[in-house]
Amino acid sequence: MYSPSSSVVWAKLQKLAKQHEDDQIIDYFGHNPQRFAQMSVKVSGLLLDYSKNRISDKILDTLIELLDECSIKEAIDKMYSGVAINGTENRAVLHSALRNRSKQPVYINGVDVMPSVNGALDKMQRFVDKVRSGEWLGYSGKVIRNIVNIGIGGSDLGPHMVCEALAAGHYAGISSYFVSNVDSTHIQSVLNNLSHHETLFIISSKSFTTQETTLNAQSAKKWFLSQAGKQDLDIHQHFVAVSANVIAVENFGIAKENMFELWDWVGGRYSLWSSIGLPIALSIGYQGFIELLEGAHEIDQHFQSAPAAENLPMLLAIIGVWNINFLGADNQAIVPYDQTLHLLPAFLQQLDMESNGKTIDRQGQEIDYSTGPIVWGQTGTNGQHAFFQLLHQGSNCIPVDFIVSLSQSPDTPEHNLVLFTNMLAQAEALMIGNKTPEHSYSYCQGNKPSNILLLDDLSPKSLGALIATYEHKVFVQGVIWNINSFDQWGVQLGKTLAANMIDNQQRSHDSSTASLLNIVRSTIHE
Ligand code: F6P
Repeated sequence: MYSPSSSVVWAKLQKLAKQHEDDQIIDYFGHNPQRFAQMSVKVSGLLLDYSKNRISDKILDTLIELLDECSIKEAIDKMYSGVAINGTENRAVLHSALRNRSKQPVYINGVDVMPSVNGALDKMQRFVDKVRSGEWLGYSGKVIRNIVNIGIGGSDLGPHMVCEALAAGHYAGISSYFVSNVDSTHIQSVLNNLSHHETLFIISSKSFTTQETTLNAQSAKKWFLSQAGKQDLDIHQHFVAVSANVIAVENFGIAKENMFELWDWVGGRYSLWSSIGLPIALSIGYQGFIELLEGAHEIDQHFQSAPAAENLPMLLAIIGVWNINFLGADNQAIVPYDQTLHLLPAFLQQLDMESNGKTIDRQGQEIDYSTGPIVWGQTGTNGQHAFFQLLHQGSNCIPVDFIVSLSQSPDTPEHNLVLFTNMLAQAEALMIGNKTPEHSYSYCQGNKPSNILLLDDLSPKSLGALIATYEHKVFVQGVIWNINSFDQWGVQLGKTLAANMIDNQQRSHDSSTASLLNIVRSTIHE
């Protein structure tokens, strides 16, 4: 049975880490003028430069051996062919089928899922076209101008992030809003500015049992009916749902024909490619949504066929494993130098931390090595004036992924130059540090690893490719660490305890929780 920490290659990597502990990244460049050319790879409009990592050729080759040792090729084939690799939930993991543009069938237990996937896409297209063309009218005959997506986690972050990133391609006639937090100020602040006549709510929840979403959906329905001044108004023109739970959707009052399907083999954080992407298609158009899928599909094919040394997701994954398990880095900063990608760190945070935040392996055993890092970040250059101080001079080694698109506005060359040079300067500063400062307090250790991802443009296609790259990176790391990246049992614990507290179940609490609960209960007018 494969276990990374008892594998031969793992031991080799530990030895290499010891041997190379004094290596300086900048010296690697001095010894090899071809380092950038050798340690960069371009796929589907994405250039990954991983040369500014503490990785020698020998280390890279050994990390690639680790991929063979964990049987990565077989793992990918299993995922793509509908094997129930999410063992604890006995589910297949087939977000790749959602963006399968190849016309090849994809089977789960002998049943081809592609007719359902394509059927759901057709339904989405008909709906999007009707709304955008003004054919779909509200109850009072007005066209829809506002879309409010109500969902949380994967039913919010993916579509929200993509809508923000592709804002330039939005149809001006429709504004999209996202409500996720159960804090009522979130929904109130959105609804305050909207006319109910022109507003369409998308209730997005795979389970349709998520507390925050069902409560926000009820509040939205109440608001809509009170604005209309009616109790029994048909809400069908104003509420649609994306869910796998038909009964709960119908109980809420949404007709089956206004429900967009989702399947149990689509994980929440991997679901933006499904009907959960409805706000994306409404904002950028159905064709734009298809281009997003195409970009992801290109990476799916690349991931399955490219050799490890040229494989974008595999390279990102093994570099991450090296940083985490052999250099002791337990954080990963994501810094997009692009304002429209401002939600990318939050999206990747859920993708990575909900997937690989595990300490129990696939055989149910506790593990003795580090797994998923703490993922966080924000846009550059803003982050430079916030947390970069710690990256340069703090006591932690925090690897950074810098992400930038070359397609900045042609009207603002001065801004573009400052943006790009700042990013490059930060990556360089992290690597070279300031070893001979005039004063000791300005000493910067340097030798801090980073990746740079340069996108040809920020089109739906390249964004699709970028997201799929990170999804597969997380998958590869899960395989190396022998964990299930597709469940999230830890999240359930908090959900259960909160539900018990709401029901006021008589359960003994510690004195802190009990006292605070009493204060809260006496403050809230239930
Ligand atoms: O937070 C846990 C989680 O289950 C996520 O994985 C998921 O994306 C989110 O809740 C929302 O779930 P649902 O779409 O079922 O409302």
